[in-house]
Amino acid sequence: MSYDVAAVRAAFPALEEGAAHFDGPGGSQTAAPVADAVARTLRAAVANRGTVTAAEQRAEDAVLGAREAMADLAGAAAGGVVFGRSMTSLTFEMSRALAKTWSPGDEVVVTHLDHDANIRPWVIAAGNAGATVRWAPFDKATAELPVNAVTELIGPRTRLVAVTAASNLFGTVPDVRAIADAAHAAGALVYVDGVHYTAHVGVDMAALGADFFACSSYKFCGPHLGVVAAAPALLEALHPDKLLPATDAVPERFELGTLPYELLAGVTAAVDFLAGLDPTATGSRRERLVASYQALEEHEAGLLDRLLTGLAAIDGVTLHGRAARRTPTVLFDVDGWRGYDVHQALAKCGVNAPAGSFYALEASRWFGLGDTGAVRAGIAPYTNESDVDRRIEAVSALADSRG
Ligand SMILES: Cc1ncc(COP(=O)(O)O)c(C=O)c1O
Repeated sequence: MSYDVAAVRAAFPALEEGAAHFDGPGGSQTAAPVADAVARTLRAAVANRGTVTAAEQRAEDAVLGAREAMADLAGAAAGGVVFGRSMTSLTFEMSRALAKTWSPGDEVVVTHLDHDANIRPWVIAAGNAGATVRWAPFDKATAELPVNAVTELIGPRTRLVAVTAASNLFGTVPDVRAIADAAHAAGALVYVDGVHYTAHVGVDMAALGADFFACSSYKFCGPHLGVVAAAPALLEALHPDKLLPATDAVPERFELGTLPYELLAGVTAAVDFLAGLDPTATGSRRERLVASYQALEEHEAGLLDRLLTGLAAIDGVTLHGRAARRTPTVLFDVDGWRGYDVHQALAKCGVNAPAGSFYALEASRWFGLGDTGAVRAGIAPYTNESDVDRRIEAVSALADSRG
């Protein structure tokens, strides 16, 4: 296993601007091969999907190639990979399709830990269907989501459990598999928000027990496009609103309008890029992805340790959350400074790290951080030790000056 962060960084033209990017959880920087694939597709002849002209075939290949790529990334079936504008819009659409099968008295379980994109669509859909929403709390000291906090809400009327694979606010990685097992035993479906998770952890939908796995390629060095993967047979059973002339085939049934072929080419390039993060990995793309994610996890774990140790040593820094299993995403405050002011002061030092609740509004409120949240530092594939040290020094200088 090997990870060459200098080589990884060389693939990100954005880093030439000089900032240390800790804003990856909001959206990673884009790898050059991704930008090239998008540009190549836009510069070539492209028509609507088809097989008669080269232009049609190019669109066809972009779609099928991206489905194959995402299937490899998530351990999913290519025929169950749905693309859409964002994870949020796809989840709203899925919630409306699923809610057509719900009746008054049915129940949906959501968690306080989740990003609002995996809460609000379910709350609204449940409201429209007359279903009841049950809210799973998380631990206010550690930001961990105990399995039983979710499973004790699951009952015979539970139709769906929506849970995050990783919190974009605290980095918490819940035991999704244990939650999914309990949901399945009760006959409920499991919708997993993998947006933050996929940026850091190798995905295996089956191992997670996810019936639906949602993610967004701009979080893993790709273009702005949302993805939901599910078993094709499960998608066959759902009937989203669609235009009369639009195909009823799965997964196209869920893809409203014309797909962005150039972005799909970018998604494939992003998956290929991730598969190459461990240059010594061999075998199928799926095998190279598994190895590369292991190398990435090890790289990021070392940097997380360095960042946590450095921040914890600064007098006046409060770290929020300490889940045993977490992504390399750190939420903190500096005494005497408002989060937004920390964001601004760090930006002046070339360190990019915004503050807020990052749409994990329920989580921020539940934890006691209100609507303003705190400062977030996220490690990404291109983060190196010098970035981390710059960040620690900048925060240390701030803490000394006590806003
Ligand atoms: C954990 C998590 N879920 C969902 C989303 C929403 O993703 P999208 O921007 O694709 O709608 C985000 C975006 O920040 C996120 O971090």
